[in-house]
Amino acid sequence: MIIVSHRGPYTFVRRPDGSFETRRGAGGVVSALGPLLAGKGHLWVAATMTDDDRAALRAGAARAEAIDVALLDLDPVLHRLHYDVVSNSVLWFLHHGLFDLPRRPRFDRRFREAWDAYVEVNRNFAAAVTEQAPEGDVVLVQDYQLALVPGMIRADRPDLRVSHFTHTPFCGPDGIRVLPDEAARSLCSSMAGGPAGFHTQRWVANYQASVRDVLGSEPAAFCASFGPDRGALEAVAASAETAAARESLAALVGDRRVVLRTDRIEPSKNIVRGFLAYDLLLEEHPEWRERVVFVALLYPSRQSLLEYLAYSQEVELAAARVNERWARPGWTPVIVDSRDDFPRSVAGLERYDVLLVNPLKDGLNLVAKEGPLANRSDGVLCLSREAGAFDELGDVALAVQPYDLEQTAAALHTALSMEPAERVARAAELKVRAGARTPHDWLVDQLRACGVDADAVS
Ligand code: G6P
Repeated sequence: MIIVSHRGPYTFVRRPDGSFETRRGAGGVVSALGPLLAGKGHLWVAATMTDDDRAALRAGAARAEAIDVALLDLDPVLHRLHYDVVSNSVLWFLHHGLFDLPRRPRFDRRFREAWDAYVEVNRNFAAAVTEQAPEGDVVLVQDYQLALVPGMIRADRPDLRVSHFTHTPFCGPDGIRVLPDEAARSLCSSMAGGPAGFHTQRWVANYQASVRDVLGSEPAAFCASFGPDRGALEAVAASAETAAARESLAALVGDRRVVLRTDRIEPSKNIVRGFLAYDLLLEEHPEWRERVVFVALLYPSRQSLLEYLAYSQEVELAAARVNERWARPGWTPVIVDSRDDFPRSVAGLERYDVLLVNPLKDGLNLVAKEGPLANRSDGVLCLSREAGAFDELGDVALAVQPYDLEQTAAALHTALSMEPAERVARAAELKVRAGARTPHDWLVDQLRACGVDADAVS
């Protein structure tokens, strides 16, 4: 089996002595797959993402836990156009409904050059597979950065069984019609040449409607939601790093209630409205002043994009405004911590009384499942109905309408005020639901979609 994803499960960091440390990569889903595949002789093709990744590759040190990782050293200019312009500024915005349509996008000559780079980078990935894959092997291609890869592989190696899995939402016909016609046709033809998977039925339906609109045909698609690796979460929870993070969090929040969020700093995560809703909560419910702390564990993402830099500043400003308005001696209403540190996130997830997950749109949102699994405080989940995970957890969580500040503030108030018996009952049911799907289940569903016996990964 070959996994193909843009960001790999690991990233490499050069130590002062010149050796390389292997760390968990930024994408939650692909990271969780690493341990599952270890030691089974599978191949994983991914891009080098940092200078240290490239240095590790050249030094022959880009290796990890018995997974055969084939990192691609892509032309930096092409890779930037592929990643920054097409993948993140166009496809990500398209599928998450983030375009401010009267102004953006504008498809000009610069976009066409970037599109050519997107095609070229996809070709590099496809070539890495077709050159190495044994006859009849199964190839699982991941996400929007590599949407053309399945079509390219099938054209070259019809013997391979290829599927594509999208971790984001998928836009409907109104969205796909925003793309230049040739781009929409290429994406749809590549994905529709075989099985295409999504985390929820909603994205399956959008995808099928888009393909019908663009190609006039009915594509094969499947729904396979992902679930956290409970054992891996427990191992992180048992680590010395998490113990230290637990202590520093306890020192920060004392015996106050904790509203928590943990996200990449990302416009679709709706972080600013989260702070505005909390501000409203403190305004409308004076009883919570000095009794609650909003802990925001946020980590930087896609900092080469202006939109993301600007959004980071808006996030900082929104948090600072809440603090300016409400802070009292000995009480800081919002604590923002922007270090990328998974043990710190696990310590936060264990401790929250309320977990706020309010994205504008999200393919799944793994935090919504990791939170209830890791939590030890009978915490309540406030979950956006626009997150894919809502389809599995929505009736046990408190629903959030992510654009409605008053509704979100009311959900936070309901969560904070909930009677202990109801909290306990909901938290117990959430743990069951959040653990119902494992990384293994998700992998097996992809293999089945390719017509492969699931024993290949057991
Ligand atoms: C989402 C996407 C992944 C991506 C991750 C991190 O989860 O579905 O494909 O890897 O975000 O984003 P980045 O651009 O840093 O890889």
